[in-house]
Amino acid sequence: MKTYNFDEHINRKSTSSVKWDETVRVFGRGDVLPMWVADMDFRAPIEVTKAIIEKANHGIFGYTSISPSVDEAVKSWFLNRHGWNLNNEWFTYISGVVPALSATIQAFSNPMDKVIVFSPVYYPFYDMISHNERTILTSPMNYKHGRYHMDLEHFEAQLLDGTVKMLLLCNPHNPGGTVWTREELRQLGEICVKHNVVVVADEIHADLIFKGHTYTPFASISEEIARQTVTCIAPTKTFNIAGLQAAIMVTSNHTLREKMEFFMKKQGHFTLNIFGITAMEAAYRHGEQWLKEVMDYIEENMDIAVSFIQKEIPEVNVVKPEGTYLLWIDCRKLGLKDEELTRLLLHKGKLALDSGKKFGKEADGFIRMNIACTRSTLNEGLERLKLALL
Ligand SMILES: Cc1ncc(COP(=O)(O)O)c(C=O)c1O
Repeated sequence: MKTYNFDEHINRKSTSSVKWDETVRVFGRGDVLPMWVADMDFRAPIEVTKAIIEKANHGIFGYTSISPSVDEAVKSWFLNRHGWNLNNEWFTYISGVVPALSATIQAFSNPMDKVIVFSPVYYPFYDMISHNERTILTSPMNYKHGRYHMDLEHFEAQLLDGTVKMLLLCNPHNPGGTVWTREELRQLGEICVKHNVVVVADEIHADLIFKGHTYTPFASISEEIARQTVTCIAPTKTFNIAGLQAAIMVTSNHTLREKMEFFMKKQGHFTLNIFGITAMEAAYRHGEQWLKEVMDYIEENMDIAVSFIQKEIPEVNVVKPEGTYLLWIDCRKLGLKDEELTRLLLHKGKLALDSGKKFGKEADGFIRMNIACTRSTLNEGLERLKLALL
């Protein structure tokens, strides 16, 4: 029996939502349908809300530590769901995965060092490297039949001179929705071990996987790979609680952990927001049913979106992703410049989507559509997409 009704329209305007309230600042229009920022238009699991209300009702919001029961909830989730056996000594809590990317870059490398990414990729990867004055190196991926493939020969060739210190890996991949297979990750991991490259694996999309695909934690592949890796995990994408800002950097490597912890101390960070901690525990402890239902709904949305686009807008190419709630639409056949594509979407379709170019120059001509919304918003968005592109 279903517990949740994801068809319910919940007004998010004037709630300080980045997705709904910042379109004027970002796109120059307030009358567009927002299907850009990666959060869901659904309420979080009821158990999360209840836990927060209970905490709020207590009324004392003093300095709060992260109790062992939070560690236990995280460990059980990853063991039961992904077969990944974690040790709570491996955890360093942090307010978000993007802050974790920045923290690890600062902890493990020096200004001007090279940090590599597979492009295209979630654009804050580039920002965190460049804002920290490191050098961005890219290994462009091949996009074949609607799926990204890492070019490991090209990747390894870039490591040969020994100057690349780190890889930022997106597993599963945003924006492509590719769920890397164990074999793909194993081959990648062996190269990183061989060339002594530290891997920071952003696994925030780990739980958003469609039927027939399996998420593999990069660090679970082998002891050697684990020793070389820091994995960033978070309940925020999974349970739609990004505003609560809670994540964990996980590594079995003592030396890497000491460096991260030193960095965190230097920054003056020692705990999380009280509501972030509360939500994290409640979500991992009680969120399973909600996640099952939301993923069924999202997968149906994805199927509807893909078949609509294939039938109604045959000029563009789209393939159902393997995971995430992000639809990656290949508009290259239209032959439009990125600016023109954005202009049509915004001013003809009144639709706010992310342009592919943000994710890397290889993605010029693509657009990213967030379909974690009610069915009626989805249908409206698809009609607007058609209007814009035809
Ligand atoms: C791959 C990836 N990493 C990190 C984030 C953001 O993480 P956080 O909100 O914890 O900084 C997102 C959000 O879209 C994402 O897609």
